[in-house]
Amino acid sequence: MKIAVVGTGYVGLVTGTCLSEIGHTVMCIDIDQNKVNKMREGISPIYEPGLDELMIKNIEEKRLFFTTNHSEGFENVDVIYIAVGTPEREDGSANLSFVEQVAKDIASHIEKDVIVVTKSTVPVGTNDWIKSVIQNNLVNNVKVDIVSNPEFLREGAAIYDSFNGDRIVVGAENVTAANTIGELNKPFGIPVFKTDIRSAEMIKYAANAFLATKISFINEISNICEKVGANVEDVANGMGQDNRIGSQFLNAGIGYGGSCFPKDTKALVQIAGNVDYEFELLKGVIHVNQKQQEILLNKLDDRFDSLEGKKIAVLGLAFKPNTDDMREAASIVITKYLIEKGANVVAYDPVAMENAKKILDLNVNYASNTIEALKDADVALILTEWNEFKDLEIGSFEKNMKLPVIFDGRNCYDPKIVENFHVEYHSMGRPSIKNIHLLNV
Ligand code: UDX
Repeated sequence: MKIAVVGTGYVGLVTGTCLSEIGHTVMCIDIDQNKVNKMREGISPIYEPGLDELMIKNIEEKRLFFTTNHSEGFENVDVIYIAVGTPEREDGSANLSFVEQVAKDIASHIEKDVIVVTKSTVPVGTNDWIKSVIQNNLVNNVKVDIVSNPEFLREGAAIYDSFNGDRIVVGAENVTAANTIGELNKPFGIPVFKTDIRSAEMIKYAANAFLATKISFINEISNICEKVGANVEDVANGMGQDNRIGSQFLNAGIGYGGSCFPKDTKALVQIAGNVDYEFELLKGVIHVNQKQQEILLNKLDDRFDSLEGKKIAVLGLAFKPNTDDMREAASIVITKYLIEKGANVVAYDPVAMENAKKILDLNVNYASNTIEALKDADVALILTEWNEFKDLEIGSFEKNMKLPVIFDGRNCYDPKIVENFHVEYHSMGRPSIKNIHLLNV
């Protein structure tokens, strides 16, 4: 099939590339000429394991193309995917101006019947509105069907998820359109769940809100564990073995970040509010998530009289491992606080430092590797669980730091191993280890 994908952000580029990999001819459209030039050479504007290789392969095999030109991009296409951003407005609602522009572009360019598939996360009812925007602006006499096809890709594992997801949700009014999109996706070998448009839109929000709820739930359990002397990892393990609960998304830490959970949870509260329903549980989930970063900082404040002049090694800046994405990363709030307290912050992240430099406080210093960051530091704060940090010998903290005091916001190390070293180790929801006896610190 001939497909156009509008928007080559995270979702659009991964979707377009994977659709070309399963044999479709895909034209990706973006307004940014520089980005398009790079993508034509197989250079992805985002860090995503495996993406560049897959782009290069499909560009060479002449199935994957990039353009800034809508006439060229929409020429003769059977299906158009909308994958532009829906950024958060100040009140938490989704900003649909990019989606509206795409709908108008589609209406003014298409010359034959098409199916328009919405990948962007949009509030319930938006697909009906998209249809009316297209219909009201159509230049030619053609038929347009709308399908809601939300994505469930995790950053850092998006290529894997594209080929191994649990389900593909297809929401449509028209059975033929739903079947066509089901067929188009068949080579992925993933079950297709067909439903109506509004339910499909709701599935995306409900799924993300539920996963965020699991995280905030385990974080609250973690906070209680600390006070009653239990170990949250064992608690999560014991809970997760119950199939009704499931073992995933029960890792306690400094809360969820990224481009989806923070935005989608707030948007769902807003969607509910618009129909006079107060989503109390989800409001709590959001509040707990915001508090979780403070909990780590409170522990740090309790440990030291003052952070003034202390060298603090911050390991990990991205909102999670295997991505350079800094959106809603805990490191933003945490480094800001440390700088305000007069600390000397030296940060290191394996891939997110370039992006971090654009948004973190200018006073944050950057190291070129973990050991450089740890050198003579008074405290190490682990904010992202990169393998590079998880694989670190605990001895490296002892050897390189002035005071080997570690605050691990992501539970990277097994306390049983840490116990063998002369370090002080504070993690989330697990008993602290104090194997150093230092005076006046
Ligand atoms: C998420 C959803 O998983 C995906 O289905 C959706 O399409 C987009 O949003 P993503 O944001 O890429 O994907 O990352 P994910 O792996 O889900 O993690 C989100 C955040 O939750 C990260 O900050 C992560 O550190 C945190 N998290 C996740 C936890 O704190 N504990 C967990 O157990 C799992």
